[in-house]
Amino acid sequence: MSEETSSQPRTAWSDDLLWALSVFDTAVLLLDGELRITHANAAAHALAARVDPAHPDPSVLLRQLPAEAWAPACTIGRWRGEVATASGVVLQVAAYCGQRGNEMRRFVVLDDVTARVAREHELTSRHDELERTYRRLASTQEQLLQTEKMASIGQLAAGVAHEINNPIGYVHSNLGTLRDYASALISLVEAYGRELGTEHPASAHLQQMRERLDIDFIVGDLPQLLDESREGIERVTKIVQDLKEFSHVGRDEPVRAVDLHKGLDSTLNIVWNDLKYKVRLEKHYGEIPPVECHPSELNQVFMNLLINAGQSIAERGTITLATGVDNEEVWVSIADSGCGIPDESLARIFDPFYTTKPIGRGTGLGLAICYGIVAKHHGRIEVSSRLGFGSTFRVVLPVQQPRPGQPGA
Ligand SMILES: Nc1ncnc2c1ncn2[C@@H]1O[C@H](COP(=O)(O)OP(=O)(O)O)[C@@H](O)[C@H]1O
Ligand SMILES: [Mg+2]
Repeated sequence: MSEETSSQPRTAWSDDLLWALSVFDTAVLLLDGELRITHANAAAHALAARVDPAHPDPSVLLRQLPAEAWAPACTIGRWRGEVATASGVVLQVAAYCGQRGNEMRRFVVLDDVTARVAREHELTSRHDELERTYRRLASTQEQLLQTEKMASIGQLAAGVAHEINNPIGYVHSNLGTLRDYASALISLVEAYGRELGTEHPASAHLQQMRERLDIDFIVGDLPQLLDESREGIERVTKIVQDLKEFSHVGRDEPVRAVDLHKGLDSTLNIVWNDLKYKVRLEKHYGEIPPVECHPSELNQVFMNLLINAGQSIAERGTITLATGVDNEEVWVSIADSGCGIPDESLARIFDPFYTTKPIGRGTGLGLAICYGIVAKHHGRIEVSSRLGFGSTFRVVLPVQQPRPGQPGA
């Protein structure tokens, strides 16, 4: 069972110790001062046969010990480590070293921990998978909540938009008529003045009245006042349109497979006028297949994202448009070098009516509309942002919409 290597100098280990080691089920190598094996117990022989079945000699175990192990072993008395052998057996190794009288005594204890390490690996990978699943579930739940919120606000918005639409319509058209009436009346007043001339007995009194009532000012201000009111109403009309868009009222465009680059470019044309003075545009279009979608709805998404990107840039900056394919999904990313979004706002930017912009500049509906449209297309919008450096909005869409009856349809 136990072995003493006769060709090597013998170190005086006691018989009791050697007997104890022979029944010990952990591999132990006893060494002399020159690191030669003077004794290997039965467990060491058995372990050597597992580590190197072709040459089952205990020296194979000693060779697994890294050279740097002895320095700490000899200074602090012990070194411990785990070693993966070429045959796949994983060893937990401890090397001990100490002075006994004149002699340096060393020994090595080895344990086969292959099974434990494999179990640990499996546990770790299961744990990682669980964590990934958990994260997926959490984000799905968040999306569901968001969709739910959108749906109820959408209904409300649709109702409000419908109610407001009519009065806005006639206020808008009446303001137009009012402007015509006003200019007719002003022309008449001015004609009276001219026709009466300064000699007419009433003219002094009329002139007095004209001054008291500030008619000259009114004549100048009235058209401007009406124009401003009309502009205001037009802004309200735009908000109502946004609200309808948001709730998808009155949209029955069929799904078509289209080239998204065309949509992006034509949308860019529309908003470019507002951007061209401060924005440098970079395009990195990849090769993408036609995507099944409601094209004008997606253009609306691109438009809102482009407008936001432009508004995030105060003075001068870059907007980068990029597209590509990943698996069965096409992505379009719109990145800006603008102000960025603080962490605490990130969770709210898709909420309807959430805006950080001044009144008249933002309604807080843009991203809510984008969210609804992209969700309807079975896609998603990913956002990454660094405060002070810019934001990237990435719209990811399936190439094909699920057919009716298919999961997710
Ligand atoms: N590209 C962007 N850079 C920085 N902030 C952004 C960007 N896009 C959206 N945001 C933030 O999200 C908010 C909501 O955007 P949105 O729904 O389009 O509404 P609005 O533009 O009318 O404010 C914005 O007010 C802004 O704070
Ligand atoms: Mg916006």
